[in-house]
Amino acid sequence: MEKNKTLIAFFSRRGENFNVGSISRGNGEIISSMLASLTGFREYEICTADGYPADLAECNKIAKKELEERARPELRNALPDMSGVGSLLLVYPNWWGNLPMPVYSFLDAIDTDGLDIYPICTHEDNGLAMTERILMQAYPKASVKKGIAIRGSVVQSEPAKAEESLKVYLEQSGLLA
Ligand SMILES: Cc1cc2nc3c(=O)[nH]c(=O)nc-3n(C[C@H](O)[C@H](O)[C@H](O)COP(=O)(O)O)c2cc1C
Repeated sequence: MEKNKTLIAFFSRRGENFNVGSISRGNGEIISSMLASLTGFREYEICTADGYPADLAECNKIAKKELEERARPELRNALPDMSGVGSLLLVYPNWWGNLPMPVYSFLDAIDTDGLDIYPICTHEDNGLAMTERILMQAYPKASVKKGIAIRGSVVQSEPAKAEESLKVYLEQSGLLA
């Protein structure tokens, strides 16, 4: 597997979250680092110009409004170099059964034609929900693969267990050399 042909893109939020208290590294951020060390693929962080509040209730309010409006928040980082990239490990949290709107800002901005997308979702109860299907419908030119769901609280309390699940997923997906 050529290292530069696969990119890990993650959206993850630090601060107060469900069942984990206030965290200095988001669950998806930790997952992304694990994926990078298991594979050697490079990482790109999807973050917005405005960010999200550390306070959970405040964040919930904003996230819900953005979902209702199908917002496309402005991204802060320059887009990654996608030349030659054929596969994307897309790490995101389940937000109200959907992907956070900044993930769409990112996917809308890159060329998804022919891109293999591997959905890697952290959650606290609802798993991937419908996010694989939502991605298929939103980006019909991409090939959305079977995803994996990992509980955020497991990432924090039993990181070795989370890492083992990722390893099995990568192996089953043919993403480990
Ligand atoms: C705005 C918001 C909405 C959420 N909605 C759901 C949900 O519908 N179902 C679920 O299982 N978890 C939900 N969660 C929990 C997150 O998916 C979970 O804590 C995830 O691991 C957070 O990842 P992060 O630390 O990388 O941001 C929600 C969290 C937030 C902040």
